[in-house]
Amino acid sequence: MCGIVGYVGPKNPKEIIFNGLKALEYRGYDSAGVCIFHDGGLKRIRAEGKLSVLEEKLEGEEFNGHIGIGHTRWATHGRPSERNAHPHNVKGVSIVHNGIIENYLQLREDVLSQGGVLESETDSELVAHLIAAEIDKGRDLFTAVLTVAPRLEGAYSILVVSEQFPGELIAFKSGPPLIVGLGENAFYIASDIQAIVSHTQKVIYLDDYEVAHIKDGHVQFYGLKGQPLKKTPVVLDWTVERAEKQGYPHFMLKEIFEQPRAVAAAIDPYIDVQSHTLDLGELRKENLKDLQRLYIVACGTSFYAGMAGKYFIESLSDVSVEVDIASEFRYRKMHLPEEALVIFISQSGETADTLAALRRVKEQGLKTVSVCNVKNSNIDRDADYHMYMNSGAEIGVASTKAFASSLALMQVMALGISKEKGLLSSEKETFYVKSLLAAPSLMENVLAYNRFFQEAAKDLKNYRGFLYMGRGVHYPIALEGALKLKELAYMHAEGYAAGEMKHGPLALIDPSMAIVMLAPKDELYEKTLSNLEESKARGGQIISIGTGEDERLKSLSKNYLAIPDPGSWMVNPLLEVIPLQLLAYHVACAFGHDVDQPRNLAKSVTVE
Ligand code: AGP
Repeated sequence: MCGIVGYVGPKNPKEIIFNGLKALEYRGYDSAGVCIFHDGGLKRIRAEGKLSVLEEKLEGEEFNGHIGIGHTRWATHGRPSERNAHPHNVKGVSIVHNGIIENYLQLREDVLSQGGVLESETDSELVAHLIAAEIDKGRDLFTAVLTVAPRLEGAYSILVVSEQFPGELIAFKSGPPLIVGLGENAFYIASDIQAIVSHTQKVIYLDDYEVAHIKDGHVQFYGLKGQPLKKTPVVLDWTVERAEKQGYPHFMLKEIFEQPRAVAAAIDPYIDVQSHTLDLGELRKENLKDLQRLYIVACGTSFYAGMAGKYFIESLSDVSVEVDIASEFRYRKMHLPEEALVIFISQSGETADTLAALRRVKEQGLKTVSVCNVKNSNIDRDADYHMYMNSGAEIGVASTKAFASSLALMQVMALGISKEKGLLSSEKETFYVKSLLAAPSLMENVLAYNRFFQEAAKDLKNYRGFLYMGRGVHYPIALEGALKLKELAYMHAEGYAAGEMKHGPLALIDPSMAIVMLAPKDELYEKTLSNLEESKARGGQIISIGTGEDERLKSLSKNYLAIPDPGSWMVNPLLEVIPLQLLAYHVACAFGHDVDQPRNLAKSVTVE
């Protein structure tokens, strides 16, 4: 939701903190600020707008201290403005906050009743007031934090410094991620490893209700009750290059082109390329043979991957799969059979609703599986079993390669469950595994449509809206295609089960409406074709995606895009989603939108 950065060390904090914020800009970019020690006091500079505005204000500003904090914001409480930008300073205390303080109205009353004067409309500023009040009572900074933290309800990752305690920086969290990088006599604290990896590969992940206290060149870890904790550093294998654009105009296009590699990396831990067999690994500890009920819970694009997983798993086994949006699932009166398995898909591993749903399920004693792209993220750490998208950092707010990896892992899950249940013959296993292994090279072929959409986008952007349609497993892909266009081009787009058209959406169709029809050759192909004819008859402008040279489909379409026959029907989604991503990307570019940082969105929704 927001990006926070802190630094303690011998170098000048301004550049380190600002570059850290740049690495986290994808998490929020409506305002930003830094607060760094200078001449023994705290010097704060903030700006509304993107980080480039803050960069101009910082030009020429000197800071001779060695401790500082910074923040790039995605507004939750209080509209984007300099006044609401972090850091928030009160009586020499300065804090940055990622998350939402849910009991802020009560805390606001408390601060005002003690004579506090609020500068901003934010919940975060209240934390600075509360800590300053405790210091006024004679407490040191650490004790002040331990006193205030238990009063905070909701999600928070907070860094705090104080003029009265110039050699200290304290970090504490409950919910959104917070990582402490251990450098040469230096400490780098941030919401995500992208802001740390260029300085050190040795990091410590703070868990919920933990505190990192940096003082006099050392860091100590505590629980919120002040109990000392022993935390073990993790050594990363990230390189800065991986987090750069590598020559692409946007991270999103780079990540679209990384999808073949991402899929190969996702399936690699489960497949023996010599014997063309599959092994589910640690999940086999579960009694999958008797598994009857499985739930898949996620948000947004990850939810659509889960929907596709339902088709895969139910087609290959006798397991009933229920897929639910995390923000609904977590509040429903759930009657989950205790032997059910629940899968949580989350690229960031930090989505608040998905994490809350996971924790509710665990309270009920069910076994959980995380499918994440970020190791040691909250969802990854809280689950019983773990699958990794292995996509590498996905910086573009619009998810692409993580989606492809999730689709591939859903196929691994379906094949693994089927095999554990004795429902997958060795011939079928070989067939599906070979098809999955061949998917990355077929995906490379489909990426060639990049040039087509680069040209077509200037016309496509003139449509009144887009209807994406598909049957069976193509239905969630249609939903994903529509979401891409919504979140990137800000155009009206809907995904629909093609069989639903007659129940209302057909009324939408006229020549100003573009129809994107997913119709690869599979068992529902004929049914899909009749839906296409209905749309054509009403003047819909049809872009269709089909298998190889499909003359029937071509004759009904304004634009026909052929994808190769992958053998296994389950691989089609990996191929057909690529043109949908490229369509959305190039239409957004045609509008001149900021593709990597679409308006109103954030990469990781760590609050409800
Ligand atoms: C997808 O392009 C969006 N950025 C959004 O729907 C995203 O998929 C959703 O917020 C879930 O994020 P997660 O996978 O990190 O949990």
